Amino acid sequence: MTDIKDICKKAFEEKFNCAPEYYSYAPGRVNIIGEHTDYNGGFVLPCAIRYGTVMFAKQNGTDKIRVLALDMNNDYDEFAIAPVIEKHDTKLWSNYLRGVTYQLAAKHEGKLKGLDIVIKGDVPAGAGLSSSASLEVCFGNLLNNVFSLNESLMNIALIGQSAEAYIGMKCGIMDQAISANGVCDHAVRIDCKSYDLTKVSVPSDLVILIINSNIKHQLVGSEYNDRRESCEKAAKILGVEYLRDATMPMLLAAKDKMDDVTFRRARHVITEDERVLEASKAFEAGDLANLSKLMYQSHESMRDDFEITVKQTDALVEIVKTALGPGKEAVRQTGGGFGGCVVAVVKPEDVQSVKNAINAQYKAVSGIDATIFETKACDGATFKKL
Ligand code: GLA
Repeated sequence: MTDIKDICKKAFEEKFNCAPEYYSYAPGRVNIIGEHTDYNGGFVLPCAIRYGTVMFAKQNGTDKIRVLALDMNNDYDEFAIAPVIEKHDTKLWSNYLRGVTYQLAAKHEGKLKGLDIVIKGDVPAGAGLSSSASLEVCFGNLLNNVFSLNESLMNIALIGQSAEAYIGMKCGIMDQAISANGVCDHAVRIDCKSYDLTKVSVPSDLVILIINSNIKHQLVGSEYNDRRESCEKAAKILGVEYLRDATMPMLLAAKDKMDDVTFRRARHVITEDERVLEASKAFEAGDLANLSKLMYQSHESMRDDFEITVKQTDALVEIVKTALGPGKEAVRQTGGGFGGCVVAVVKPEDVQSVKNAINAQYKAVSGIDATIFETKACDGATFKKL
């Protein structure tokens, strides 16, 4: 954190020949349980992690956002603030900013002015840890504070979600909501229908391990939107607005009215919502045996019913499960899927044996190494006038 902050500030001074006036930060996230439930109006249990996106900024007296992205090979972009802003053909990173800007500009006519910005982050991209949500929230919260827009953090999250839609990813609200509203030492259960947030304290004797398969996922324009369509189809057949409002007996009663794939997609979502509610209690109570059962069931459901795991993440989950042993296998693929990371909740004394098992076995399956890191649950977005 300190490192990227220092590098980013120095780069700002060099690029714009002056000191920045504002600092903004928003974290990535790891989801403990509750996958693909958010856009079904259901429950998720993520926490913000200690990796995120940093921005330093200063008003520039123009009507333009001028921005340098250090992690994109120092790529630079500028665009005029307007209620309609075209997407850039090649600079995908800038489109997240363009998406946030045009929405806030449309809602708060005439209030946004030009800013010079330098961005740096340390959330690994394509790992299912929400690097893009941290970018959107960091930027939305920057504009919100600099121009006194008085938007709530949840509204900033919603603007970030719409920026994803502008780019072509019909995601849910989880990633942006937790990046904005993360709470130190807590996971946050989000009711994605009412947007109620419930803090779930992380027991001090448990460690959150994130294991990156280093198989990059690509969600924009991919299978993600396809999964969402299947869920919407199932909800329609069941006569509910969201799958969150359906139950297993309702689904079983309607089995003949849908194809097998649609049935399994819906079964994942309905059972996953139940698991989130139970897992929140188990996590808070430090009931590792129950949490383990639920997290591993979640993985099986993603693998067999929702079909969003890949052989490398399946292998990682099995390696970690065996290393931890019965009653302690709190491990599952996390995030949008199709690669990315596995999350495990473990006792501190088991961390080393998990690392040893992965280092000894994963490469034989995947041909590459995994990256393992520990995180605590962190606070969400912050802003400071310097
Ligand atoms: C991605 C999306 C989220 C959520 C997860 C899956 O991270 O951005 O909204 O749907 O996938 O749980």
